[in-house]
Amino acid sequence: MRSIEIVPSVLPADFASLGDECRRLGEAGADRIQWDVMDGNFVPNLTFGPDLIKACRTHTDVMFEAHLMVTDPDLLAAEYVEAGCEMLIVHAETSLHLHRTLANVRSLGARPAVALNPATPAETVEHVLDLVDMVLVMTVNPGFGGQAYLSTMEPKIEAIRNRLDVRGLEVDIEVDGGISADTIAGAASAGANVFISGSALFRYPTLAEGVTDLRSRAQTAQA
Ligand code: DX5
Repeated sequence: MRSIEIVPSVLPADFASLGDECRRLGEAGADRIQWDVMDGNFVPNLTFGPDLIKACRTHTDVMFEAHLMVTDPDLLAAEYVEAGCEMLIVHAETSLHLHRTLANVRSLGARPAVALNPATPAETVEHVLDLVDMVLVMTVNPGFGGQAYLSTMEPKIEAIRNRLDVRGLEVDIEVDGGISADTIAGAASAGANVFISGSALFRYPTLAEGVTDLRSRAQTAQA
């Protein structure tokens, strides 16, 4: 079984104090921090540029991952690596040459991951599973936090986990969108082991309580 990782999204964080928020998330036990990078084109929202992430880099030692919800990931990949993101998540829907784009992320010294929107079938990533460290199965339509979890994505999670196991590939499966105390078990049972949480995590009395509770629920479901 792959280790459970809790990865907060900074989308619900206090944008006026993002450095402190990153420090708090690290102190709360986050395994990584996810930056939801949105270009206002691939998704109807505009968020974090590389300079902002670079400014937050020194506020925590926790690894950063950039979820590139952008129309042209090849154009931006190097800037987000230089800003301090150790993992780049590229959407399968945004790259005409996905195999080359993911190989390029690895050549930049970062860990490549590939994301699938809800309507995109698992088979789309069959021929790049050997290039990535992680597959992100979106459990909402990307663009905004606080949306309802799509449990209809669980068969897709299961199908990808089965393919990875059959091929003996050491690849994590991450889920992102609507992950909370009520939904994390379903995603974990289906085969996910990395969990993005934004609004639900920030609703706990403390961030540490949230990270601990979500991790415990996922471990119980995985067992
Ligand atoms: C959607 C975003 C959200 C965010 C987490 O584009 O990627 O999924 O990270 O959102 P919630 O608030 O659902 O955890």
